[in-house]
Amino acid sequence: MTTRKVTKAVFPVAGLGTRFLPATKSIPKEIMTLVDRPLIQYAIDEARAAGITEFIFVTSRGKSALEDYFDDAPELESSLEAAGKTALLETLRSTYMPSGAIAYVRQNRAQGLGHAVWCARQLVGHEPFAVILTDDVIAAEKPCLQQMMEAYAETGGNVVAAMEVAPEKTSSYGVLDISEEHGALVRVRGMVEKPRREDAPSNLAVIGRYILTPYVMETLNQAKKGAGGEIQLTDAIAAEIDSGRPVHGFRFRGQRFDCGSKAGFLQATVAYGLAREDLNKDFRQYLEETLSLRAAAQ
Ligand code: G1P
Repeated sequence: MTTRKVTKAVFPVAGLGTRFLPATKSIPKEIMTLVDRPLIQYAIDEARAAGITEFIFVTSRGKSALEDYFDDAPELESSLEAAGKTALLETLRSTYMPSGAIAYVRQNRAQGLGHAVWCARQLVGHEPFAVILTDDVIAAEKPCLQQMMEAYAETGGNVVAAMEVAPEKTSSYGVLDISEEHGALVRVRGMVEKPRREDAPSNLAVIGRYILTPYVMETLNQAKKGAGGEIQLTDAIAAEIDSGRPVHGFRFRGQRFDCGSKAGFLQATVAYGLAREDLNKDFRQYLEETLSLRAAAQ
């Protein structure tokens, strides 16, 4: 199948991040740091690895720190240069984005994920696009979106990242109704946003990576409120199935962390901390000692 190359990605970053109050009183949750990099950096790196060259942030009031983060930092650069700190200099430069590569649009009022994505419609235009939710951090040998691009080259249409979740957790996710399974790819015949366990068509949940056709934007033009009184991206993707365009779920290889929750963020911190060569030894030792002290006290 010939598919048009996907070069644009939408990052809905307008959320208030109330689950992380009081930190999010003054810092956007996307700037919160996993080891030493803000969440948004992980998302941008994953998008770059997948061939994305145009980055569209859907922001809101109070997110200026997020916009500033991607600017060059000439003063910092020259002081690192003068001090001969080349490794840090390289780290700094790896965060630079070419001028004009990131565009910012505003979501004036929080009306749901579907609405946030729709705010990017003029910049997306009539071409397929990716969506990345920065809360979902995925540790993988090959970055998740890149895996999905490879699947998309076979399937075309819409591809959503998917993962089995515990049946009692379906009410936190978009959930897939599956018609066929082909290894990592599943053909989807329906999607439900946040169903109760008893109403869920499966326990295969959508995780925050999407490759979507431009028709999804058209559907969002007339979208009505769905689950939770919000305009849902899930509903707009489900409408693709009714229009005869394929929707596939893709079981990615990797470990997903829900950095939108405190427990998930802490788990990610441990996993990414342990994965770092410069931290592994001391950090592992600390964790082992702490856990064995706890076990001994019980
Ligand atoms: C959003 C989507 C949901 C998806 C989830 C993945 O929900 O609406 O379909 O399963 O992201 O993280 P949220 O977590 O924003 O409530």
